[in-house]
Amino acid sequence: MRIRKATRSDKEQVLSFCSNTFDWGDYIDQVWDLWRADKNGRLLVAESEGNKIAMSHVAVCPDSKSAWLEGVRVHPGYRRSQVASRLIERMVQYGRQKGARQASAIVAADNVASQRMMEKNGFEVVSRWAYYSTTADRAKRQKSEARLATAGDLGSIWQYLQKSRVYRLSAKRYVKSWHWYTLDRKALQNFIKDERVIVTGRPINGVAIINKHGYWSKKNILQIIYLDPASAKSLRHLVLFVTNLYLDGKFDRLQVLCHESKSMTCFFEKFMIKEQEQFLLYNKVFTP
Ligand SMILES: CC(C)(COP(=O)(O)OP(=O)(O)OC[C@H]1O[C@@H](n2cnc3c(N)ncnc32)[C@H](O)[C@@H]1OP(=O)(O)O)[C@@H](O)C(=O)NCCC(=O)NCCS
Repeated sequence: MRIRKATRSDKEQVLSFCSNTFDWGDYIDQVWDLWRADKNGRLLVAESEGNKIAMSHVAVCPDSKSAWLEGVRVHPGYRRSQVASRLIERMVQYGRQKGARQASAIVAADNVASQRMMEKNGFEVVSRWAYYSTTADRAKRQKSEARLATAGDLGSIWQYLQKSRVYRLSAKRYVKSWHWYTLDRKALQNFIKDERVIVTGRPINGVAIINKHGYWSKKNILQIIYLDPASAKSLRHLVLFVTNLYLDGKFDRLQVLCHESKSMTCFFEKFMIKEQEQFLLYNKVFTP
């Protein structure tokens, strides 16, 4: 078996075993061209006797400290022969060459094969996340006590996060295009500058970070990409604020990505959810 950089001509054969991977299908067809053109990453294909038998993508995160592993797919006829493990090894090697000190990946909570694969390759679960999606078709505008954070809020939001249990349980990450990145002070400052941080209370008792531009080719999606309320009241007002943005902005969907907890699931189940899923965030710190 040979692992190499993907070429344009691999697409058709690879997609032929990446369309019905999960009960809902797969997303590889939506990202193949983006991943192949990615200047900060590498799309890999495994080949055996002229047949394309597996693929994966690795990207180096904007801070260059982490590698993101994704899209591992092995043709059903070639599984349990360490093909995925070899791809992981190669992606880790790529990350290390680019200066990364750790690698991360996200796995659906019901994907036991993939969880075992990550664990066998030295990764450990650092956080549990939930994803909720809705078209909010029955939502109505309601007054919210939340507000857009300004530059002057940076210090107090950062202080709030340092003490926040949710921040710790979220592994100090936010989500961008299905990659989980570190939410450090610099990232927070940039989000505030871009008017993407919503807060409740004085002093701060809740924080949400949003994305108005969707991901991949799905540009018309409004997302909450980090959610950290100190109380049920704060959660309600943060979500109302975002729902109002959603109703004003003619988005197709409202998605929430946040640390998984019973209280969050309970809240969103009452809040017109169409889809929901749980994920495990895996991480591996490289040995020097
Ligand atoms: C998950 C997947 C990538 C694993 O590929 P693979 O080449 O079979 O994995 P490997 O042979 O490298 O397996 C490494 C280890 O993972 C674990 N593992 C892999 N598949 C498993 C399964 N079906 N059940 C339980 N453990 C499994 C085993 O510990 C295995 O080691 P072992 O065979 O020595 O016991 C493959 O099943 C696949 O393509 N699934 C569909 C797509 C998918 O779920 N991708 C991951 C999305 S996050």
